[in-house]
Amino acid sequence: MTHDTDSPPGARPRVLVARAIFPEIIETLRKHFEVEDNQADEAWSREELLARLKGKQGAFTTGGERIDAEVLAACPQLRICANMAVGYNNFDIQAMTAAGVLATNTPDVLTETTADFGFALLMATARRLTESEHFLRAGRWGKWSYDMFAGQDVHGSTLGILGMGRIGQGIARRGAHGFGMKVIYHNRSRLSPELEAECKASYVSKDELLRRADHLVLVLPYSPQSHHAIGAAEIALMKPTATLVNIARGGIVDDAALAQALREKRIFAAGLDVFEGEPRVHPGLLDLPNVVLSPHIASATVPTRLAMARLAADNLVAFLVRGEPLTPINPQVLARA
Ligand code: GLV
Repeated sequence: MTHDTDSPPGARPRVLVARAIFPEIIETLRKHFEVEDNQADEAWSREELLARLKGKQGAFTTGGERIDAEVLAACPQLRICANMAVGYNNFDIQAMTAAGVLATNTPDVLTETTADFGFALLMATARRLTESEHFLRAGRWGKWSYDMFAGQDVHGSTLGILGMGRIGQGIARRGAHGFGMKVIYHNRSRLSPELEAECKASYVSKDELLRRADHLVLVLPYSPQSHHAIGAAEIALMKPTATLVNIARGGIVDDAALAQALREKRIFAAGLDVFEGEPRVHPGLLDLPNVVLSPHIASATVPTRLAMARLAADNLVAFLVRGEPLTPINPQVLARA
């Protein structure tokens, strides 16, 4: 497909940065592009985003901006959307590919940091860390008792991983090598024998994973196929002593069903970094003691967020200046350009 450039020949490409970002990233982008930023981090409505995207060749997005057929039809000049996230369920990739718009994401740079956080959430959930801290801060710690905040063991237990991409493998390595856990996983495709050996992980069916895991971590991408992959029926298969950790995406877990299961103590506890319809959180989760909640921060360390922002910006430069993006999601677009 050919693109309207809507700018005079030789003019610098125009780029929209949809959210506030490190100032040095804006500076880098300004070396190459005419940049409209949102350093005030205003909450743009969809209409506003669409209006601002008109006439831009590139967009720096952060995972919250939906790029679909409607946006693409309204913005025929658009050539690339660079997501500052590894997940890209805010992109309609089929529509972007059909419109000849390149999509990029930020894999690899966040793998280890996100795996660290998955493990932190698992530990906090199994050992009731936030619940006990709230108790202490509320001045309720009057005396020690034998079962005070007694949780579940992590070391030596069975770690289940649903979704065994790079982050899932990072969590498996931490569990197997650091905590002597037995690792089982389920994934759309099985890992190579070499990778399985490196992660000390055994492939099992989803049912077996649910039944056997002491701690189940979700690290699969969100798609219509993974919507409510964990609902009431799946939770019913889990052990009453099991924990469930979601660092993947809201919508993979049926949050209403999970809240009910946690209330009825059908599983021991959950750790959630992502929520259906976030930043709203299902009200049934908010007043439960046996759930650890965090606001979608699994990749949030200063060096990693900077590396993600750099990679998104580098993708814009590499593609709009040199025609060679670094981490394309739909490289078919390049073959047609
Ligand atoms: C964060 O959720 C990401 O996809 O990078």
